[in-house]
Amino acid sequence: MKYFVFTFGCQMNKADSERIAQGLERKKHKPALSIKEADLVVVNMCSVRQSAVNRVFGLKEKLKGKKTILTGCILKKDRKKLEKIFDKIIEIENLTKGLLGNSSLLPIMKGCNNFCSYCVVPYTRGRETSRPAEEIICQAKKIIKKGVKEIWLLGQNVNSYKSKSVNFPKLLRMVNKIPGEFWIKFTSSHPKDFSNELIKAMKECKKVCPYLNLPVQSGDNKILKKMNRPYTIKDYKGIIKKVRKAIPDIAISTDIIVGFPGETRKQFENTKKLFKEIKYDMAYINKYSPRPGTAAEKLKDNVSPKEKIKREKELTEILKKTAMENNKKLIGKTIKVLIAKPKMPVGKTKYNKRVKITGLSSALDSNGFVKAKITKALSWGLKGEKLEK
Ligand code: SAH
Ligand code: SF4
Ligand code: F3S
Repeated sequence: MKYFVFTFGCQMNKADSERIAQGLERKKHKPALSIKEADLVVVNMCSVRQSAVNRVFGLKEKLKGKKTILTGCILKKDRKKLEKIFDKIIEIENLTKGLLGNSSLLPIMKGCNNFCSYCVVPYTRGRETSRPAEEIICQAKKIIKKGVKEIWLLGQNVNSYKSKSVNFPKLLRMVNKIPGEFWIKFTSSHPKDFSNELIKAMKECKKVCPYLNLPVQSGDNKILKKMNRPYTIKDYKGIIKKVRKAIPDIAISTDIIVGFPGETRKQFENTKKLFKEIKYDMAYINKYSPRPGTAAEKLKDNVSPKEKIKREKELTEILKKTAMENNKKLIGKTIKVLIAKPKMPVGKTKYNKRVKITGLSSALDSNGFVKAKITKALSWGLKGEKLEK
């Protein structure tokens, strides 16, 4: 049977999908290149925004005549309707049991305890649990042996990782000690748990990349409070300042929600102000979407769709400028680039920025690090020339 795994949502879901594929391969199924040529379709769904849920319902026609399985983050409310479209709904734990995956995506914990007022993750993924450190280290060693050059430590809030006496900074140091040439990146961080100990570990661990995703969600203290995000903009800026002092070249990204219930123009302007001050390298800007069962569902979703789009655009404009400014600083510099796929002329830097490379020719260049001189800066990436070793 030929299978196809359709993945929505965050990196956690991507990591799970890789394990699902591995499980299907073990059962001698072969991958299909598209849904069309597949006999078995597994949909790994996300419910974080209504648009993601709608896209799953939108697959209905394409799934006709195929064997179908639904898994991932599913809300109770949608289950009945989804049961009509899919042959089976299987809990993600049951699909991935005993499978580790050879991927660079390494979940270190699951679930979330934070209950931000807009978010379904604590309901779809349950409470936070950290995986034992020994298990993570063992898996990291295995994938590095297989030739993986970049490891992503994943969790909804990696900063609250805790397994026996190992906290997140300690875990970073343990992964950093594994021999070999590889990069360590991690996501997501919650500002409320961002410690000085973590900054110190990031600075001292040579394999930990100068890249930080620190979701702020809003630039306004009142909105943050309504979101149940227990920090102020002053706290947030304080963290960024300390991180930049310790790691001056660090690239910083964030997550934002525009049009949270009751967000006034003035409050939104505070987010714009924060964007201009922080000068982000990247931002994931989301239009607020009311989610069933969350605390914010009870608040009136009173920012119009049109206004949400407008706010999203305004932030994107600022981001384009700041990202470009930051990227320009890299012109003329020689940096290491990790080639994404063998023989493809694109890769990523330690700053998690994409680079298009010219001069990549021999098979020697495939699937590894190359040195490149940055020749051009764009808002969403860089261009570079490969240098001889
Ligand atoms: N654990 C991470 C993010 C998980 S969800 C964190 O705390 O930052 C990924 C992003 O989706 C969030 O950062 C948020 O910006 C967005 N998001 C979550 N719920 C949303 C909603 N109801 N409407 C719009 N965006 C939402
Ligand atoms: Fe959702 Fe907040 Fe948990 Fe992130 S920290 S997953 S936004 S509840
Ligand atoms: Fe991720 Fe979406 Fe679930 S963001 S944790 S796949 S609801």
